[in-house]
Amino acid sequence: MPPHASPSDIPTPQTAFKASSHASDGKTHILLAATGSVASIKIPLILSALSKYSNISIRLVFTTSSLLFIPPLVELLNIPNVDGIHLDHHEWPRGLSSNPAETLDRTAQEIDQETAIWAKIGDPILHIELRRWADILLIAPLSANSLAKIVGGFSDNLLLSVVRAWDTNKPIAVAPAMNTLMWEHPVTTSQIKVLETEWSWFRVLRPVEKLLACGDSGSGAMKEWSTIVSWVVEEMKLKLEGGEVENS
Ligand SMILES: Cc1cc2nc3c(=O)[nH]c(=O)nc-3n(C[C@H](O)[C@H](O)[C@H](O)COP(=O)(O)O)c2cc1C
Repeated sequence: MPPHASPSDIPTPQTAFKASSHASDGKTHILLAATGSVASIKIPLILSALSKYSNISIRLVFTTSSLLFIPPLVELLNIPNVDGIHLDHHEWPRGLSSNPAETLDRTAQEIDQETAIWAKIGDPILHIELRRWADILLIAPLSANSLAKIVGGFSDNLLLSVVRAWDTNKPIAVAPAMNTLMWEHPVTTSQIKVLETEWSWFRVLRPVEKLLACGDSGSGAMKEWSTIVSWVVEEMKLKLEGGEVENS
């Protein structure tokens, strides 16, 4: 298996991310997230395609499970228009682990360093800042697990906290990807129905049929990455470098 991303690729930044510092950059802000599906291997392709568009800024949020399928994160930071990667431990540093044994392993100084990102009322909180910053959130792929948590209102990681705190005047597009039997399960049907019929700010880019990574064949594969990019381009009216609108 090729080398993959690890949470330690991107240490907790010493300076907190603030949406207001980027509010007047004149760019379309795309928050792209991936969850723990094999289809996360398409993230570099999605980013390379988006990097051709002008006046956009892309920030990435990855669940811990998705990192298994994504190349080392510094490689993604080298792609044009990718301006930041945000991980769970940037919001909840290890020093604040709910496991007392883990916390005892760390010195008071280490804990102070890791938790300095939020010190007092008014300091930026990452998931709120990302929501303020983003013009659109694209979750591609969306796992069965994260789908269920979104519909259930859970917010126990950075991505789910962004979704839970979302401004419903802005769009969230999701591209589910899962095993055929997971996709066809009645619980998935009812969760997708909530997104498609009750939560107007969601757009479901439905999976397609093909031979899946697990060997099963049927629906559940993430929509073709280029189709997902085309949808974002159209939705956000992105223009290619040089000012032309892509004619695809
Ligand atoms: C190799 C491998 C591939 C997986 N592919 C998928 C998938 O395509 N879709 C899915 O919903 N879950 C898949 N899973 C299971 C998820 O990774 C697991 O449910 C995880 O808890 C998802 O966490 P997340 O939603 O926080 O990213 C896969 C797991 C493994 C080990």
